[in-house]
Amino acid sequence: QIRRTTAPEIARRKGGEPIVSLTSYHAHTAAIVDRYADFILVGDSLGMVMHGMESTVGVPMDLMIMHGRAVVRGTKRALIVVDMPFGSYEESPNVAFRNAAEIMKETQCGAVKLEGGARMSETIHFLTQRGIPVMAHVGLTPQSTHTLGGFKTQGRDEDSWPAHIHDIKAVAEAGAFAVVVEGVVEPLAVEMTKAVDIPTIGIGASPACDGQILVLEDMLGLTPWVPKFVKQYGALGEAIEAAVKDYAAEVRERSFPGPEHVYKPKT
Ligand code: KIV
Ligand code: NA
Repeated sequence: QIRRTTAPEIARRKGGEPIVSLTSYHAHTAAIVDRYADFILVGDSLGMVMHGMESTVGVPMDLMIMHGRAVVRGTKRALIVVDMPFGSYEESPNVAFRNAAEIMKETQCGAVKLEGGARMSETIHFLTQRGIPVMAHVGLTPQSTHTLGGFKTQGRDEDSWPAHIHDIKAVAEAGAFAVVVEGVVEPLAVEMTKAVDIPTIGIGASPACDGQILVLEDMLGLTPWVPKFVKQYGALGEAIEAAVKDYAAEVRERSFPGPEHVYKPKT
C-alpha cells in the first residue's frame, strides 16, 4: 500500500536531502513525475503553459480545480499542492479559507500555495489553524507582475534584502510548511534559507535552497522560450514537431494507415 507524502513530512526535510519537485497539469505526465518527485505543484503557470495566457493574473478557480483533479487522479505517491489563483485569497482570511477549502474538497489535494510574504501571514495562520496546509511563495511573485513592473529578479540591490528576509520569516512564523523562493540572487537565497526552519524550494534561486522546482514543460524543452534559470533536460518540442511532420507526410502520401492499422471483417 503506497501512502502519499504529507505536508508535515516535507516540513521535516529542512536541511536534509534536497526536496525534488516539478509542476504538472495533466494526469499522464503527472504519473511519470510521481515516480520521482516528493511533491507536485499544480501551478497557476498552467494559464501560460497550457492556455496561452500572458500572465497568471487571468487564471480562474475552476481551471485550477480541473487540472488539480487530473493530477490527483494520475498520481499516488507525491504530495499534490495546488496554487490559489489571483483574486481567490488576497481579500481576507475568510475568502481565502472558502476558496482553499473548495480547492481541497474538489481536487483532494494535500495542500495549497499562495503568493506573498508578511502581507499574507494572517491568512496563512488562519488557514493552517483550520486544517489547510499552506506552502508560501516569496521573492518574485508572478501574480504581482503589474505592480512589480514585469517578471524581475529580486535582490540585485542589497537594500531590498531586509524586506525579503522579513517576508520569509513572517510566512514561516505564520505556519507555512514550506516556501517557494523564486527569482532571487544567490546570496539572498542563502540568507533566506538560513532565516527560517521550514524548507525553501528554489526556482531561479540557486542551489542554496532546501529543494528545487521547475515548470515541467520548461525543463522538457516544450515551451518556446525559457528563462536563464531553467535547464532543459529534454527536447520535447523538437520530438513533437518531428512526429507531427512524419504523420502529415504519411497521410498525404497514403502510407498511413498501413495494413496493420486497418480493421478486417470476420473471414
Ligand atoms: O505556477 C507555478 O508554476 C509556480 C512555480 C514555478 C513555483 O508557482
Ligand atoms: Na504559481
